[in-house]
This record gives sequence, C-alpha cells and structure tokens, in this order.
Amino acid sequence: MKKKVTVIGAGNVGATTAQRLAEKDLCDVVLIDIVEGVPQGKALDLTEAAPIEKHDSHIIGTNTYDDSANSDIVIITAGIPRKPGMSRDDLISTNAGIMKNVTEQVTKLSPDSILIIVSNPLDAMCQVAYEASGFPQNRVVGMAGVLDSARFRAFIAMELNVSVENTHAFVLGGHGDTMVPLPRYSTVAGIPITELMSQDRIDALVERTRKGGAEIVGLLTTSAYYAPASAAVEMAEAILKDKKKILPCAAYLQGEYGFNELFIGVPVKLGANGVEEIIEITLADDEKAALQKSADAVQELKTVLKNLDQ
Ligand code: NAI
Ligand code: 2OP
Repeated sequence: MKKKVTVIGAGNVGATTAQRLAEKDLCDVVLIDIVEGVPQGKALDLTEAAPIEKHDSHIIGTNTYDDSANSDIVIITAGIPRKPGMSRDDLISTNAGIMKNVTEQVTKLSPDSILIIVSNPLDAMCQVAYEASGFPQNRVVGMAGVLDSARFRAFIAMELNVSVENTHAFVLGGHGDTMVPLPRYSTVAGIPITELMSQDRIDALVERTRKGGAEIVGLLTTSAYYAPASAAVEMAEAILKDKKKILPCAAYLQGEYGFNELFIGVPVKLGANGVEEIIEITLADDEKAALQKSADAVQELKTVLKNLDQ
C-alpha cells in the first residue's frame, strides 16, 4: 500500500513540499489549509501535472482532517511567515496557537504518525507540537538543520567551484541567529573546509549561512520555500524509506549535549521510527559555547511559550 503524508498549510512551503513529495512518487499526499479553495486548487493543479511529471501519487486538497486519517507522516507548515524586519521569534504567539490547534486535530486521526515540524520559530513550535500531540520524542522532529546545512553547502560549492554533491556540512543549534555552523565537520570530498579556505572566507560563509533566511526575506519580502520544502522532503524520504540517514534535525534532548527537555538541532538518525538515535559528536570548547548560547536562546522562547499559556 502507498504511504500517506499529510501536509498542513498549503502556502509556499506546504504546496512546494506537496509538489516535491508527489514528483518523487514517494507517497499519496493530503494538503490541508484553512483557506477554502486553496488546497483544493493546488492539489488539482498538481494532479493535472502528474501525467507530464510521470508519477502516480494521489493528491487531495481539503479544509478538513478526515482524509488525513492514518497518515504515516504529517508535515506542519501552517502559520505565518516573517516579513522584512521581523525575526523568526516575532511569530511565536500567532504560530503557537495555530500549531497547538492543528496538532491536536491531526494527531487524533493519525495517532501513529511521525510529525515533521516546519513552522517558525522552529524549535519552540516543536515543543508545542510535542506537548499537544503527547507523542513520544522519537515521533516529533523539526526541520531546520537540513535547510541551514544545505545553504552552507551551496555557499561552499560556490566558493570552491565544486559540485554541491561533493559537499557535506553540519549546522547545529536553534534555527535562529545563534545557529552553529560547524566548519570542522563540513567537508568537500571528505576534506574539512578548514584545510581548503582561509579563516576569513570560512567566517564569511558561516555568517551568510546564519543570515540565509533573512537574505531571502530581503529579496522576496516573504520567507524561502524551495529549499525549505526540499529539506522537509529529504527528512520525509528518510523516514518513508527507513534509510537510517544522519541529518541535523531539531530533536528533543534528554541529557544529550548537556541539555534537558529541549528541542534543538543535533545530528540524528532518521528511519521508520522517526528519530532513532541522537548522535553526540565531540565539540571543541568554542563550539560547545556557541551551542550553549543557542540553547539559551531556545530556552528563552520556551519561557515565552509558558507565559503565553498563562
Ligand atoms: P505561507 O503564508 O505561504 O503559508 C502558510 C499557510 O498556512 C497559509 O496558506 C495559511 O492559510 C495556512 N494556515 C494558517 N493557519 C492555519 C491553520 N490553522 N490550519 C491550516 N492551515 C493554516 O507561509 P510559508 O512561507 O509557507 O511558511 C510557513 C511557515 O514555515 C512559517 O511559519 C515560516 O516561518 C516557516 N518556515 C520555516 C522554515 C524552517 O526552516 N523551519 C523555512 C521556511 C519557512
Ligand atoms: C528560513 O530560514 C524563514 O526559517 C526560514 O528561510
């Protein structure tokens, strides 16, 4: 039987995610949004592209949850994106309400699903979905590190004029200005970039990666969606195909890296059971300090969430 993935939010990221899932022929897709006509229209448009794109994924667009029942994966992109001048954290009160509401609705009908959270501020939204779903920690995972690492990889490939396929990068920490790109663990054909570029150029690429989301918002006046959708689909594919792929994702830590009860980006193994393992890599003192600073920023958002509840 075909796997089923529900994508909540049929806006820029959600619709592009549905498109990539279908065009890779990975699963049937249910696209949900509160705006009437939009998910239906986008699903129909994607369905009409299928003969040309040569896939047999069924795509349903809807404003209710019935068709989402028994989904294997639910990808949540519902919420507002940022506008120029806004940080991801400015979205917290609006998106926390939306995340709680959609998580409660979708998990009732798909109690065994794995949730991939996309809405911002990402690490805080994972926390909301985790609490609203009551799911175990392995079945709630956030998309950020795959996107941030892809940006870093793209910049490395441009800098060295090499294939993106030769590049590998890790960006850990929260999905915000304090994210932690790790040059020592970022390689070209296995060679650390610290051996291939000057420190000045590495610093410039790290800074561009940290501000990668804002760079796109500055150009588009809304947030990125092609690369975010690719990142969410890479995670979904790893789960659907039980690939045991190591990817940087927001995962719920219980002591790993010295953090407790906190979602933050770390390398995880993604397979049929979701987050099957959290991989602890050795960090130098400056890397540890950067991760601590990033965790502090996520912790602050957790406190904001608690205050919103009261
Ligand atoms: P968008 O505005 O294009 O789409 C959001 C959609 O969510 C809209 O169609 C809206 O009607 C829908 N929506 C709102 N409330 C809903 C509800 N209660 N139920 C169902 N649908 C609902 O925004 P876009 O660009 O798709 O971004 C979506 C979210 O993803 C934003 O919060 C954005 O910041 C975040 N994002 C996160 C990234 C990451 O790396 N984690 C990367 C890119 C975006
Ligand atoms: C991004 O990094 C806005 O989180 C989104 O593009």
